[in-house]
Amino acid sequence: MCGIVGVVGKNDATTIILNGLKRLEYRGYDSAGIYVAGDESHLVKAIGPIKNLEEKLDTTITGTMGIGHTRWATHGKPTVANAHPHTSQNGELVLVHNGVIENYDELRQTYLATDHFYGQTDTEIAVHLIAHFKNTGLTTKAAFKKALAVIDGSYAFALVDTKDSETIYVAKNKSPLLIGLGEGFNVLCSDALAMLDQTNRFVELTDGEMVTLTADNVTIENAAGEIIKRDYYVAELDASDIEKGTYPYYMLKEIDEQPVVMRKIVQKYQNDDGSVAIDQNLLTSLKNSDRIYIVACGTSSHAGWAAKKFFETLTQIPVEIHLSSEFGYNMPLLSEKPFFIYLSQSGETADSRQVLVKTNELAYPSLTITNVAGSTLSREATYTLLLHAGPEIAVASTKAYTAQIAVMAVLAKALGVEKGISAALQFDLFHELSLVASAMETMINEKESLAELTADYLTDTRNAFYIGRGNDYYVSMEAALKLKEISYLQAEGFAAGELKHGTIALIEEGTPVIGIITDAVTGPHTRGNLQEVTSRGARTLVIATEDLAKADDQILLPTVHPLLSSLLAVVPTQLIAYFATLQRGYDVDKPRNLAKSVTVE
Ligand code: F6R
Repeated sequence: MCGIVGVVGKNDATTIILNGLKRLEYRGYDSAGIYVAGDESHLVKAIGPIKNLEEKLDTTITGTMGIGHTRWATHGKPTVANAHPHTSQNGELVLVHNGVIENYDELRQTYLATDHFYGQTDTEIAVHLIAHFKNTGLTTKAAFKKALAVIDGSYAFALVDTKDSETIYVAKNKSPLLIGLGEGFNVLCSDALAMLDQTNRFVELTDGEMVTLTADNVTIENAAGEIIKRDYYVAELDASDIEKGTYPYYMLKEIDEQPVVMRKIVQKYQNDDGSVAIDQNLLTSLKNSDRIYIVACGTSSHAGWAAKKFFETLTQIPVEIHLSSEFGYNMPLLSEKPFFIYLSQSGETADSRQVLVKTNELAYPSLTITNVAGSTLSREATYTLLLHAGPEIAVASTKAYTAQIAVMAVLAKALGVEKGISAALQFDLFHELSLVASAMETMINEKESLAELTADYLTDTRNAFYIGRGNDYYVSMEAALKLKEISYLQAEGFAAGELKHGTIALIEEGTPVIGIITDAVTGPHTRGNLQEVTSRGARTLVIATEDLAKADDQILLPTVHPLLSSLLAVVPTQLIAYFATLQRGYDVDKPRNLAKSVTVE
C-alpha cells in the first residue's frame, strides 16, 4: 500500500528517493510522486510505474532534501491530480501521506470551505489544513501539530516547508513509518527495505508521535509535546535479500526459497539438546488458556486453517480461526480464558491491528507471528515469534504462508510437550520439517511438468475449482486465492463434499477441477466428488501423495507426516498460479489492484 521515503542532508536526494520508491514498489501502488528541494525545487507526479515518474523528472535538478511517495488509491482515482505530494494552496507546504483521514469532509467544511482542491484525496485536505493554521501566524511545526490534533484516522505524514530546505516534519498514527539514521544525514521510510542502501540503523515511532528531522538531528515528541528518547535498532536485513538475482520474478524466487526457509525455522527454533526454543512465559500463558483464537486475513488466515488440526492434536486446546475484518466488529462470545494469535506476514495489516487494539483493551494475552521484526502487530502483542523467511516481495504470499504453518507447528510442539500431551511427545517435529524441506525440493524440481499441465488445463478457461476435505480443503482455499489474485481466473476452493449442495451447478463442459488428496480417510470421498464433476463434463486434475495416488493422477507429492501435508500440497498450486499468470501475460509480482502491506481497513 502507499509508501513514503524521504532524505535530508545527503547529496543527490533525487536518486536516493527514486531508489527508495523502487524498493517500495512491491507494496502495491498506482501512481508516484517526488518533491526535491534545491536551487530549483522539483515536484513531479506520474501515474503508473516509477519509470513513468523517472521519464518526467529532470535528473539534473537535485538537492539534499526531498520526499517521495507511491500511492495506492483509496480516496479518488489514480490520477496525477490525486498522486502525492500534495501542496497547500499557495504552494508553500508539500505533504505526502499514507493512511486514511476519516474526518476529512468535516475538516473541509469546518476550516476550508472556500479552498479550491485539485483532486479528491483526503491528503490534500490535510495540507490545506496545516496551511490554514499557519496563516493564523503559527510556525510550520506548530501548525502541523495543531492539524494533527484535529485529524482523526490513520496516517504517516512527511511535511516540507519549501522555504526551509533543511527540515522534514514527520508524524505517525496507525500507519508504519521509520526514521533511518545516517552520518550527516537522516532518512524516513515506510519500510526499512527502502533505505537499506543508505543505513541499517532505524528508529521506530509509536502512534501519536511527531518528528523533526534535519541532517544531524532527530527530535521525537509525543502528542503532549514531551521529547522522547529512543534507541535505534540495527536491521538484520541485507540489501541483497531484496534482489531478484537471476530469477525473472520474485514470486518464483520465493517459491524456490521454501525448503531453505523450513531449514532456517528448524535452526532458529531448535535448542542444542533438540528441544524447542520458545519463551517459557509464552508457553505458560498459552497453557493457561482454554481456547486459541487465530485472527488473520487472506493467505495468513489460510495458514491459520492449515495449522488448526495439528495444533488441536498436539496441544488439546480448541482453536478457532477468524477473519480480522469480521472479528473486530462482530466479536463472538469468547471463552473464559482466550489467547489470541495474530498471523501477519507484514505485521502491519490494519484489519488485524484493529482487533489487537480491542483485545489489548480487554487485557487478553496475544502473540503475533510475523516476518517483520519491530512491526506494529509485533510491538503491540504480548509476544512475538518471527518467521525468519527473509523479505517477501511478490504481492502473492508463498514462503510466508508455509513459514507461518511451520512456526505454528513449532509452537504446537513446544506447548504439547509442556502440557505432556503424548501426541506431541512422540512427534519428532524438527525431523519431519527437514523431510518436508527435501520433499519441497522434489516438487520444485517438477516445474517443467507443472508448466505443461497448467497450459493444458488453464489456458482456455475463465474459471477453475480446487476441492479437498479437511486440510486438503484448507489448502484448496489458499490454492484458489493464489490463482485468482495473480492470473485473474475466477478460482474457488471448496470443501469437496459441499459441491453437490450448490456449486456443482457451475460445472460445465471442460471446467477444470483440481482435487487435492493427502488424507487416507477423506481421499476416497474426494475421489467420489471428482467422479461426480467428471460425469458433468469437468476436466479433473489430481494432486495426491504417493501413498494414496492412483495410476492416472497427474501430480504426485512425496509422502510427509500427515499433520504437515499442507506444507507440501500447496507448492504445486503456487507454481500452477505462477505459470497460469505467465501464460496469460500478466505481471506475476504486481497483480492489479492489490497491495502487499494493507495498512487501511
Ligand atoms: C495473498 C496475500 C494476502 C495477505 C493478507 C494479509 O497472497 O498475501 O491475502 O495474506 O493481505 O497480510 P498479512 O499477512 O501481511 O497480514
